[in-house]
Amino acid sequence: MSSAPDLFEAVLELPDASARARYESLVGLDDVKARLNKEAQLLLHPSSLEAWSQQFHRRRISACDAFADRHPVFLFAGDVGTGKTALAESFGDQVARSIGLPIYLYRLSLASRGSGAVGEMTQLLAAAFDEVRRVAATPPGRDGKRSSAVILLIDEADALAQSREASQMHHEDRAGVNALIRGINSLTEKRLPVLVVLATNRLQAIDPAVRRRAAATFRFDRPDDTQREAALARLIDGVALSTDEIRGLVKATGAVDGRPYGYTYSDLYQRLVPAAVLAAYPDRPLTGDLLLQAVASIEPTPPFVEEGP
Ligand SMILES: Nc1ncnc2c1ncn2[C@@H]1O[C@H](COP(=O)(O)OP(=O)(O)OP(=O)(O)O)[C@@H](O)[C@H]1O
Ligand SMILES: [Mg+2]
Repeated sequence: MSSAPDLFEAVLELPDASARARYESLVGLDDVKARLNKEAQLLLHPSSLEAWSQQFHRRRISACDAFADRHPVFLFAGDVGTGKTALAESFGDQVARSIGLPIYLYRLSLASRGSGAVGEMTQLLAAAFDEVRRVAATPPGRDGKRSSAVILLIDEADALAQSREASQMHHEDRAGVNALIRGINSLTEKRLPVLVVLATNRLQAIDPAVRRRAAATFRFDRPDDTQREAALARLIDGVALSTDEIRGLVKATGAVDGRPYGYTYSDLYQRLVPAAVLAAYPDRPLTGDLLLQAVASIEPTPPFVEEGP
C-alpha cells in the first residue's frame, strides 16, 4: 500500500496478529471495546445493518435510517495513559475480522503537523484526506461490495482541532479546524468507508463543530480497584504473590494518603513493574515486597485537568 511517507506513519494492514495481541492486552475496556466494534462495523460496512434487518425483520426497517448520514468520526477522550492510543491503533483488527475486509490504518504523523506557517496545516490536512479518500474510493466489486476500509487516526487531536473560539488561537490553527471539518464532510457526502478517530485528553479543547460531528464519543478513565487488580494480575502472572500482597498493591496504587487519584494503566505497565523487575534483576526473584517498595518511590501521573466549560 503506497502512501506519502511525510504525511503518515507506516500504514498498517489489519487484521494483524500483533495488533490483535495489543488489543487483547488492554484491560478494563470491555464495554468500550464492545460498543466500538459495533459502531465501527455499522459505519465502515453499512450493509451489515441491512443484513441484520433482513435476518430479523425480513425487510429493511426504518430504524436503520437512524444510522444514515452519520459522520464517520469517533472521539476517544479521557485521562492520560488509559489506552486511547493503544486501542485506537489496534481495534481495527477486530473490526476487520468482523466485516471480513482488510482495513488500512493511517496515522497522521506528528512530524507532518507543520511549523504553523500560514496555509501549511490546511494543506497537510487536505492532502491527508485526499490520500485516504483515494484509497477508500476503490470501486466496489461487481457484487457491489467494497474490498477494503480505512481508519484515519489523528492522535493528540486537540493540537489540531482546537476550538476556533479560543482567543489565543493563531489564524493557522483555525484554518486547520476548517480543513478538518471539510475533510470529514467530504467523507460523509461520498459515504466512503473511512472512519476518523480523534484522540485527546482535552475534550473541552476540541472545536464544538468537530465534537458535534462525532458519531460516538468513548470515555477513558484511570483504573478503579477492580481494574487495577485485573491489570496487576496480568502483569505479575507467574510470580507467587499472596492474596494479601495483591490486596496491598491494589490499595497502595489507588487514591491513598490524601492523594485524590491512583495509578494510570501506563503507570502500572511502564513504571511500576519495570522498576520492581530492575530491583530484582539479576540476583533475586520478583516479590510482593519489591513491588510495594517500587510503589513507594513512584508518584502516579497527575490527571490532566480540563480548563474552561
Ligand atoms: N487499559 C489498559 N490496559 C492495559 N494496558 C494499558 C491500558 N491503557 C494503557 N495501557 C498501557 O499504557 C501504555 C500507554 O497507553 P496509551 O498510550 O494508549 O495511553 P493514552 O490514553 O493514549 O495516553 P495519553 O493521553 O498520554 O496519550 C500502553 O501502551 C499500555 O502499555
Ligand atoms: Mg495517546
